[in-house]
Amino acid sequence: MSAATLCGALLAACDAPLSTLDPAGPNADEIRFLWLVMFWGATAISLMVFALALYVSFAGNRPIAPVRALVWGGGGALPIVTLTVLLVLGVRAGDAIASRDDSATQVDITGHRWWWEVAYSDDAGRKLYSANEVHIPAGRPVRFNIRSNDVIHSFWIPRLSGKVDAIPGITNVLTISAFTPGVYRGLCAEFCGAQHARMSFAVHAHDEDTLRTRMQQLASSARKPPAAFERHCGTCHASNPHDRRHAIAAPNLSDMPIRRSIGAGALPNNSSALRDWITQHQRIKPGNRMAVFNGDANDLDEIVAFLEPRK
Ligand code: CUA
Repeated sequence: MSAATLCGALLAACDAPLSTLDPAGPNADEIRFLWLVMFWGATAISLMVFALALYVSFAGNRPIAPVRALVWGGGGALPIVTLTVLLVLGVRAGDAIASRDDSATQVDITGHRWWWEVAYSDDAGRKLYSANEVHIPAGRPVRFNIRSNDVIHSFWIPRLSGKVDAIPGITNVLTISAFTPGVYRGLCAEFCGAQHARMSFAVHAHDEDTLRTRMQQLASSARKPPAAFERHCGTCHASNPHDRRHAIAAPNLSDMPIRRSIGAGALPNNSSALRDWITQHQRIKPGNRMAVFNGDANDLDEIVAFLEPRK
């Protein structure tokens, strides 16, 4: 592969949806700046070391002048300056990510094997549950309260911020904001079992009007499920946004018809993918905690009609 092709391929990776080098919020900006300082600093120091190595190779037995300056400069001053700069920038980036802004919109995030529970508070302070899709205001700070229901996961939206671990029994806080409306992909960044790689989510940053509409849609998404849903899905999956089932923690499906994906990013949300998911989810996402579907064709039709995207 020629150098030009290699560079092209590497640069193409920089504006991918999961690239930390294409920041879309202030936290990610800080991190990218720190990365650039480290990258160019390391490049400069490497070049300096190579130059010195070449100089020594060709200098033969002649004394290398000025020895003292080299030892004190290269062995003392340079590391002190480099490490101080990195420490200051690192603390600054860490501070930006860990800041606790109590005026920020709050969203509770809970990691499960292998999906993300998302809970908002409505105007009356009641929780509204959804999954694998987070809706936030653009241009305003949002505080995620991050928890886990089972093992350690890690909540990461590369274009918006650094990763924060979701640890059982602990609430970690991450305050982010997105510069502009858009969809920002996120993923689990801590190995948490067989389907760790299929534990993705999407953060949708909206302008105020669109966000209000989306939140109203969630708040009014309670529907009476058909009997087949109650029989096969209703023990674990809630169909009212205020409900949280405790039998086996499973995604709340009340706003499923307007969600974009099935199985935490495993499939796009459409009728035929829903059918595939319900009947073959253990093939699509082996080891997931959903029970094998044992209904008949009519049951399947009823459930798909209840959950499929509205035309
Ligand atoms: Cu959850 Cu990896």
